Amino acid sequence: MKTTPAKTVPRDTLTPSPSSAPRASLDHFFSAVSARHDRWRDLSKAAQAWVAKGSSPALEAECARRLGELRPFESLQAFPGSRLLRALEERVGAGDAHGTLRLVQRVTQALMSGAYRSEAGEWESDEEGALGERVMPTAARETTARHYFETLFVTPSPAARWPAQIQQIRKLRRPQDEFVYEPVMVGNFEDALLAVILNTNLESVVIYDGFPFASAHDLPLFKSWLASRLPAGAEESAGDLGLALARAVKQIRPELDVILLSDRNPDEILSDPAAAGLRRVFYEVEEPLEIHLSILAGVAERFETPFFDNLKKYAQKPVGTFHALPVARGKSIFRSHWIRDMGEFYGPTLFLAESSATTGGLDSLLEPTGNIKKAQDAAARAFGADRVFFVTNGTSTSNKMVHQALLEPGDIVIADRNCHKSHHYGMVLAGAQPYYVEAFPLVAYSMYGAVPLRAIKQALLELKAAGRLDKVKLVTLTNCTFDGHVYDTRRVMEECLAIKPDLVFLWDEAWFGFARFSPFLRPRTAMGARAALKEAFADPATLERYLAQEKTLGADLDPKDPRVLSTRLVPDPRRAKLRVYQTNSTHKSMSALRQGSMVLVADEDFAHHEQAFKEAVFTHASTSPNLQIIASLDVARRQMELEGYELVMGAIQNALAIRREVNHHPLVSKYFRVLEPAAMIPAEFRPSGVESYTEGATWVDVNRANREDEFVLDSTRITLVCGTAGFDGTQFKNLLASEYEIQLNKTSRNSILLQTNINNTRSDVANLMKVLVEIAKGIEERLKGGGEAARKAFDARVKALMEDVPDLPNFSRFHDRFRQDPAGKTLEGDMRTAFYMAYDSERCEHLPLASPEIDRRLEQGPPLVSAHFVIPYPPGFPIMVPGQVIERDTIEFMRKLDVKEIHGYDAALGLKLVKPAILGQGAPTTDAAGAKRPASGALVKGRAK
Ligand SMILES: Cc1ncc(COP(=O)(O)O)c(C=O)c1O
Repeated sequence: MKTTPAKTVPRDTLTPSPSSAPRASLDHFFSAVSARHDRWRDLSKAAQAWVAKGSSPALEAECARRLGELRPFESLQAFPGSRLLRALEERVGAGDAHGTLRLVQRVTQALMSGAYRSEAGEWESDEEGALGERVMPTAARETTARHYFETLFVTPSPAARWPAQIQQIRKLRRPQDEFVYEPVMVGNFEDALLAVILNTNLESVVIYDGFPFASAHDLPLFKSWLASRLPAGAEESAGDLGLALARAVKQIRPELDVILLSDRNPDEILSDPAAAGLRRVFYEVEEPLEIHLSILAGVAERFETPFFDNLKKYAQKPVGTFHALPVARGKSIFRSHWIRDMGEFYGPTLFLAESSATTGGLDSLLEPTGNIKKAQDAAARAFGADRVFFVTNGTSTSNKMVHQALLEPGDIVIADRNCHKSHHYGMVLAGAQPYYVEAFPLVAYSMYGAVPLRAIKQALLELKAAGRLDKVKLVTLTNCTFDGHVYDTRRVMEECLAIKPDLVFLWDEAWFGFARFSPFLRPRTAMGARAALKEAFADPATLERYLAQEKTLGADLDPKDPRVLSTRLVPDPRRAKLRVYQTNSTHKSMSALRQGSMVLVADEDFAHHEQAFKEAVFTHASTSPNLQIIASLDVARRQMELEGYELVMGAIQNALAIRREVNHHPLVSKYFRVLEPAAMIPAEFRPSGVESYTEGATWVDVNRANREDEFVLDSTRITLVCGTAGFDGTQFKNLLASEYEIQLNKTSRNSILLQTNINNTRSDVANLMKVLVEIAKGIEERLKGGGEAARKAFDARVKALMEDVPDLPNFSRFHDRFRQDPAGKTLEGDMRTAFYMAYDSERCEHLPLASPEIDRRLEQGPPLVSAHFVIPYPPGFPIMVPGQVIERDTIEFMRKLDVKEIHGYDAALGLKLVKPAILGQGAPTTDAAGAKRPASGALVKGRAK
């Protein structure tokens, strides 16, 4: 079923429309930016035609109409602003075709280049600057290097007074100001929110209470969405909407500073939970300079990069070093006869900023108390966590730290078997026992999706029935997965906490750190869900819902009661604890250097675990962390707090453009296809019915899918099927790299994964399309030239890639030798013991994959038990883990696997297995207390041989 938009609501195709299609309107958020630029281009074309024709009332009218169409878009932006627009109108009205064209072209160029941010002259209406009063006062002209932003003023005063108010605000600028901002005025709730969504230059919002609700713009989609989100009667409470607006602004862009001016009693305002997000509250009228200073201080706070700022200062100081690290200060390089080119390549600054000292204000990553601590606190603010730890060895290390910090030997972890190998190794190191849960398979594309909540609940209930729930400490899931499946993080945590109220969650958001800065994605991040749950747990309605559930299901959920599995469970908010960890590879989606990673912590029990966390940091972190990586984490945070919203919106728009253009291009779509939710997420997990992000769905539908569906796709992760063009994933990846300089990193049997990032531009999208067109043309020509034989060979290749796909093996089970559940009913296993068994080659044997002995053992036993992790790249998850019984489906998968890189498997030797005799002998197992015991249960010292 394709979702059909409501009849009264126009379609938003979510992507820039082709020029023939009707232009997207103001509330088509994913296309409004390009719609605005398109309109300026149209106006420019009309003005050119007018100039070419000379006098033409029709073209004059056309220009006036185009200008009128631009008005709603421009009312939310500071540039070009009402003065320049009025000047344009006057030129059109005066029949001045040349003057109109000149000004339109100048505005368009300034918009495209961003020159208006630094060039005061761009704000002048005529070339000579003869318009009288200058838009930017002299002070601003002198400081063109100052960072520019815009501030939204929401005011009840009549629009006629806004130009004068804007001038007043500009007059507050002082030479010593660090930043310069332009005011944008709106007069109602709806326009204010619209500006917050569409004006990516905004950094702060000043709300003067007393404004009305409704916008005069035509906003059917936006109004329908807003109506469904606001409490009944909100529209009528004009005059008292300030706090409601502040709250709505923070929900969309939490990084913005919001300042409220109200004549309500300050106590009354501050007692409202929405006030917590306000930067300042002013009572009634306030000195404008105070407001001005508050605006600047808010941006200065986000701009400050405590560690990086200090590192820059450090690099300027003359320092004599008598510590390790000869490259520090660069002398070993610049004075060298042989390696000076390294210095020339990187420049001296890198070496001046290197040190192995933790003095001089450089702080210590392992025990931060100074600038690193401040930088981490700023990151916690930006990412919505209670605390943040910077990690300079990638999320591989962050994950191991969290496992080690939270787990004791014998603890059980519910883990997605496809999770990154750092989790599996983390569990080995911690001595924890994984209980693997399976993601739904996408066999046709040789990949996995994400783990259904039902499977996770089932695991918890099984463990409860076996009396082992107390051992379960952690649930770890990958959000989003490599291929872009995003969990309903809130629902997963809510329902799991209903079964075990003190569970801890580790969300591996290695790929998804940027999601914090999109209002569409944030609710589905670890920290977004944690914020929502925190609020929900404080809401008496949650307790009511819980008590109603308790009446039917009881306080102690019965694991055998089928209703527990099928009910959307509510945790007891009086008992449930919010203990949430997120790891993200800041280097994967933000401007951090490679290996820059963060651990985000929102754990209400952290005080009890702080020491363990420190120990885990001490265990895994290098004692020589790279200062440039730390600085880049600090800077990446600054960037995201100040322009993350714009950049992420851009990445999503580019992704949607790729999706739409590939699937609609008449030639490209013959051979290639981008997979949409309908192909990537089984319908049972998509109650919203949204099948595509580019076909027949509005952003309101996408939002609904975000609310209702168990899984959604991160649209920036784009699976492009290339098997239909006769290429396997690796082949196509290599072709793109070698012939077209296009790099990517993940492939499957018949697809590649493209990813748009905060660094991609529309030109990248255009280049990709050009390449795909070229490749598709090449296929057409080869098929034409090769006749019937070529066609047959092509069809056979496509069939092999698209139809003869191997089944994906599920995790089988741990060998009984490694299972501690006495009744053997639950799946967790002591992987650590199996892992260390393989250290002694005497205990292991190798069997070549093709050997008949493997088939014989599969038939007759004894079971084949893996001694190693075996991890094919791609897909990069273990198809065998130490101690796992290997079954036929895994062998078949291995035999069909056509990837070259398989970690833990040496093709010349074959599969490494634990010898059956050893398994029978009862080599030691590590129990919960870490003591060694043989399978018989009697305690022994050391390992049995
Ligand atoms: C889901 C997941 N987690 C963790 C990692 C490891 O991250 P890093 O490369 O920063 O060590 C990866 C790497 O690809 C990953 O895909």
